[in-house]
Amino acid sequence: MEYVIEMLGIRKEFGGFVANDNITLQLKKGEIHALLGENGAGKSTLMNVLFGLYQPEGGEIRVKGKTVKITDPNVANGLGIGMVHQHFMLVENFTVTENIILGSEPTTFGYIKKKQAAKEIQALSEKYGLDVDPYAKIEDITVGMQQRVEILKTLYRGAEILIFDEPTASLTPQEITELMQIMKRLIAEGKSIVLITHKLKEIMEVSDRVTVIRKGQGIGTVVTAETSPTELAELMVGRQVEFTTVKTDATPGEVILDVKDLVVSDYRNINKVKGLNLNVRAGEIVGIAGIDGNGQTELIEAITGLAKVKSGEIILNNKKITNLKPRKITEAGIGHIPQDRHKHGLVLDFTIGHNIVLQTYYQKPISTKGMMDYKQVSKKANQIIEEYDVRTGNGENTPARALSGGNQQKAIIGREINRNPDLLIAALPTRGLDVGAIEFIHSRLIEQRDKGKAVLLISFELDEVMNVSDRIAVIYDGTIVDELNPKQTSEQELGLLMAGHSKKGATN
Ligand SMILES: Nc1ncnc2c1ncn2[C@@H]1O[C@H](COP(=O)(O)OP(=O)(O)O)[C@@H](O)[C@H]1O
Ligand SMILES: [Mg+2]
Repeated sequence: MEYVIEMLGIRKEFGGFVANDNITLQLKKGEIHALLGENGAGKSTLMNVLFGLYQPEGGEIRVKGKTVKITDPNVANGLGIGMVHQHFMLVENFTVTENIILGSEPTTFGYIKKKQAAKEIQALSEKYGLDVDPYAKIEDITVGMQQRVEILKTLYRGAEILIFDEPTASLTPQEITELMQIMKRLIAEGKSIVLITHKLKEIMEVSDRVTVIRKGQGIGTVVTAETSPTELAELMVGRQVEFTTVKTDATPGEVILDVKDLVVSDYRNINKVKGLNLNVRAGEIVGIAGIDGNGQTELIEAITGLAKVKSGEIILNNKKITNLKPRKITEAGIGHIPQDRHKHGLVLDFTIGHNIVLQTYYQKPISTKGMMDYKQVSKKANQIIEEYDVRTGNGENTPARALSGGNQQKAIIGREINRNPDLLIAALPTRGLDVGAIEFIHSRLIEQRDKGKAVLLISFELDEVMNVSDRIAVIYDGTIVDELNPKQTSEQELGLLMAGHSKKGATN
């Protein structure tokens, strides 16, 4: 039998909304099969159907040629299907072994059985080159290791088919390379893999075939060796895309933002920014490279007035803005494309028109003598909708909620740039967007720089940091550990710094 899994004509609806419409995916034994699609295309839904988390409204699933009904994850496990989820489901203060046997604990002789389980886990770990310590506590191991525990969990339950849902999203470049090796090892030992991703580079590197879905529709399956990133991108978004970011060298001017010895804590009063120093000059893009959770969020919130500064100073255009109210900071000349566009970027129930004047509604020309001039709102909104190609259903009167993620983001970027700030902060500006929107946003950031503005970019994507920045500041554990010229560094070097290894090779 050539196929271990066949999903034929799968349809899945969520109350009228069709997330999967007649999708077919056939997994061969011993292959790495990539499932490619933009955010929201329906990838996780399809795999959740295979794992028994959702019941499809139509279509057929076959395992080794036999039609099956996968009513819940236990049935999936029984059929040899295991899933490594995007967000790990591990108990922090349990050991690796305790987590792996959780839910399928040996009932009698608890202690001895646990020891036996640890032995088996050790053996599996060695067989697949996972290097996991069965007795380590989850809270003490890295995200990369936790993911391997999830892999071991599926193997311990006898998985022959492994589904990985965007497994590289929170890994360092080194961990990504290691994961790719682990996948190849799994294949060599006879397993079959479905790899969900929207990263073309990973697909080209590791997969045998690719199934593409777009907006819930199956587009088709191609052989990796016979395709190219350009073709895949086109299949994914449905039109041609440019990959290269064209930009000249920067000519930095005076310091616009100066952050000195900054200390900021999170909501639990634990310090997240620990004496951080950073500056951004006019006419340059400084990219902050780092793994999620190293103080990026708190740094941006402190600069924009959303979090309180414990100590240290933030200076904009030679004026202290430390702990000013967000509105005062906005008025001082900061534009902010926030990390969470729903929480801090837009009021989803407001129209696009009202969202566009969110920070300026009380100023001239939008308001005169305390009265809002709706003609002016409309004029401004339409100008931005046009310039930034914001696709709305009903123009300025469309509620922000009704726009796709990419168009919401374009509206925010248009609004922030239109206020002409001296410093533009772009936090994960392209997260979850398709390649076309990414290209558009990158060129807008570069355009700001070329107008002599300062741009601070925060990103978890190394490609983005390397291509867009003029200078890279690496953040680790709340401080900037190094600054690099993107032309003179490598993903490898950046990855090591991001993981806390200093240049001398020692771990901090
Ligand atoms: N449980 C659910 N209820 C309603 N809508 C959902 C649910 N899960 C996913 N969707 C919607 O289905 C679409 C596909 O989602 P998903 O499969 O998660 O996409 P992907 O994994 O490709 O990013 C999205 O528009 C999403 O909002
Ligand atoms: Mg998903």
